[in-house]
Amino acid sequence: MNEILKVIRDRRSTRNFLPDQIKESDLKNILDAGIYAPSATNKQPWHFTVVQNKDLIDRLNYSFKEFAKKSDNDYLRKFGNNENFHVFYNSPTVILVSGDETNRYSPIDCAAAVENMLIAGESLGVGSCWIGFIEYLLNSEEGKGFLKELQIPEGFRQIHAVSLGYKKGTSTNGPSRKENTITYIK
Ligand SMILES: Cc1cc2nc3c(=O)[nH]c(=O)nc-3n(C[C@H](O)[C@H](O)[C@H](O)COP(=O)(O)O)c2cc1C
Repeated sequence: MNEILKVIRDRRSTRNFLPDQIKESDLKNILDAGIYAPSATNKQPWHFTVVQNKDLIDRLNYSFKEFAKKSDNDYLRKFGNNENFHVFYNSPTVILVSGDETNRYSPIDCAAAVENMLIAGESLGVGSCWIGFIEYLLNSEEGKGFLKELQIPEGFRQIHAVSLGYKKGTSTNGPSRKENTITYIK
């Protein structure tokens, strides 16, 4: 198996991070991988907000959990009420990926950028977790106050986020893969 295939195989969501900040050069390479993702008609309809301020990361977590506690979505409420849960798993870096609201492919293009960043992270020894949850807060009335502080550009909508940091302990192999999702017709 070549290196790239091995990195793709080895990447698993990290939910336990060391508090140490990631190296600037690693962050730069990860962001670079994001912006080199494919996008429909090469519109690159994304914006990346890198948050490395612990106070802001924790306030986002707090507000997300308060929001989740009041949700009528049982799944979300369970996380809101779990004292040990942190929406970013206390990672020292969070990248919020927002997308141009006028571009119908934004969620797909932003997902491609996220996946590139996760794989780049793995190749550099940086653990990562794709975070969809925070979108519930940031696209709600309760989350509006954060948009300015996060400098999300006008006309952009929060879509995905990525937690990044060095892995704490050895990661488990993570969820197995279904085997019936491929059909071959020759
Ligand atoms: C669109 C999307 C949103 C996700 N949101 C979250 C999230 O909010 N929190 C979380 O812990 N994991 C989240 N994940 C990670 C998945 O749970 C994880 O990728 C899946 O269980 C497979 O495990 P693996 O990444 O270890 O292979 C998300 C993944 C995707 C693709």
